[in-house]
Amino acid sequence: MKNLIATAATGLLLGTLTAWGTDGIEMRHQGPNNTLVRVTAPARYILLPVQESAPNAEIRILSDGKFDRQINVNLANTRVDYYVPLDITPYEGEHLLIDVRTHYDRTTGRESSDAVWNELIKLSDSFNRENTEKFRPKFHHSPDYGWMNDPNGMFYKDGIWHLYYQYNPYGSKWQNMSWGHATSTDLVNWEMQPVVLEPGSIGAIFSGSSVIDKDNTAGFGNDAVIALYTSADAIQTQSLAYSLDNGQTFTNYYGNPVLVYKRESRDPNMFWDAERQCWVLLLASALDGEMLIYNSKDLKEFELTGSFGKDYGCRDGVWECPDLLQLPVDGTDEKKWVLICNINPGGPFGGSATQYFVGDFDGKTFKCDSPAETVKWMDYGKDHYATVSWHNAPDNRHTVIGWMSNWEYANDVPTKQFRSSNTLPRDLSLFRAPDGELYVASRPSPELEAMRLPARKQSATINAKGKSYQLPADRDGICEIAATLTIPKGATTDLTLSNAAGEKVVMTIDPAADTFSMDRTKSGITDFSEHFPAVTVAPARNGSNTYEVRIFVDRSSIEAFAADGRFAMTNLVFPENPYTTLSVSSHGGKTRLESLYIYPLDPAKGK
Ligand code: FRU
Repeated sequence: MKNLIATAATGLLLGTLTAWGTDGIEMRHQGPNNTLVRVTAPARYILLPVQESAPNAEIRILSDGKFDRQINVNLANTRVDYYVPLDITPYEGEHLLIDVRTHYDRTTGRESSDAVWNELIKLSDSFNRENTEKFRPKFHHSPDYGWMNDPNGMFYKDGIWHLYYQYNPYGSKWQNMSWGHATSTDLVNWEMQPVVLEPGSIGAIFSGSSVIDKDNTAGFGNDAVIALYTSADAIQTQSLAYSLDNGQTFTNYYGNPVLVYKRESRDPNMFWDAERQCWVLLLASALDGEMLIYNSKDLKEFELTGSFGKDYGCRDGVWECPDLLQLPVDGTDEKKWVLICNINPGGPFGGSATQYFVGDFDGKTFKCDSPAETVKWMDYGKDHYATVSWHNAPDNRHTVIGWMSNWEYANDVPTKQFRSSNTLPRDLSLFRAPDGELYVASRPSPELEAMRLPARKQSATINAKGKSYQLPADRDGICEIAATLTIPKGATTDLTLSNAAGEKVVMTIDPAADTFSMDRTKSGITDFSEHFPAVTVAPARNGSNTYEVRIFVDRSSIEAFAADGRFAMTNLVFPENPYTTLSVSSHGGKTRLESLYIYPLDPAKGK
């Protein structure tokens, strides 16, 4: 850092740089849309002011005169929405120069030197990560700051659940795709770790998967963690990175890309086929609506052995983020293969969603049991996408997590310093429904029960006027509602969450139709997208008039499950104030509320 100071002093003496605003930063405006920023004092971060509506600036980082990398940031023009930190510790002791290329024009009415970022950019040794925005969930994973989409490359090792995710560390909208990283020992409390993969010379880092290479098949060492991801640039190819420190840092393989397909293809997802002693890789041929299947001995060379999808399932969007799991059928010794296929758009209520196929896998090809036109959805809400499983989960569990948003409006939801959370983790199995088909059962992962604070059992007979129950007001209404209801034929039951401002979410169980629905049209802020207000409906596949449901409320999300996992429904909500009341009412007959528990949830409790 001494060098930096010396350079600055020389620069000033020579009159080549303009001292501006903050200590340790000097600027030279080279033209209306180009500013050079020289860092002249030691610090951990440059804090960059962001205005989401401002045009993107290309920020080119030069170290000792050499171009290192570029990030894109909506640098604040007229006001600041939030700051993002650019970590400059890797450049310590080097001459650091930032070449900022802005795109102000007559429509933005400014040139770079007038924009507010000039005065507000600053050096700092700290960045406040205590994101206390009112919509930030308490017991769901979300990044401290920045944009997140798909969960990626998750694996479990030595008691730690590793979660990587599509991440933009430099703003809360989709760009600069990197792999963020978080770890947890209980699937509830997540610790944000440093970013592991950032865009490089062959492209941005899109989705992928990781495995533990126990037997050193790839040659990077026993127990190396191997990640495969999509390098996205002019074309999409698949690249390998390896970690020798249990996933804390990754090194890109010099031989990248390791797999090139003739068409747009992405999101490699691999697993070890113990029976056939080789790796199996699924890859989404996105535009063709097909999942390619490869075999590999070393994760560097791949043989295409089959593909699945032509004419199958929902085909109204691109196919992305595959996964292939062998799941047990509840109550039997049977196991079947499930091919997960995320699709966007084409979801049951518009936009992105997760479909799946049940069938057989012979190591090279997948055969679906159901007729081609059958469509099975893993979750019947609007905010469940890019769901994939953890590699090496303990006790043969099949634990998955999804991105809790929808491409229709993910960039516009009313949060600021972060955008998007993940769904609750869920454990999957299969069940046979009365129609003879096998479906995926999604149960909230058992770890979530550790958050429960004591709740009193309540019961009642419910008529049309209904009964009201308080949600935990001292915890922003954050809770799990567990209810067992017997509803007579011809009647329906409403479970309504509401606040004093009249904002509400109405969930209806209709035994005649055997459905569970959720209406968020009056849930709070809904006008940021015409696609947001919605009523979502799930087939309950219940088989009796007694329904057991579990509903998780976490500030800006509601996830409803049949207690035995037969349906799941995930929807975002943005109430101005937390919901304070649960009202239960019955229409067309009296409902017996056999039991109701409203558990306040404390994520710290299970730690
Ligand atoms: C799915 C997806 C993936 C891709 C990633 C890019 O949401 O489109 O197919 O790898 O997001 O961020």
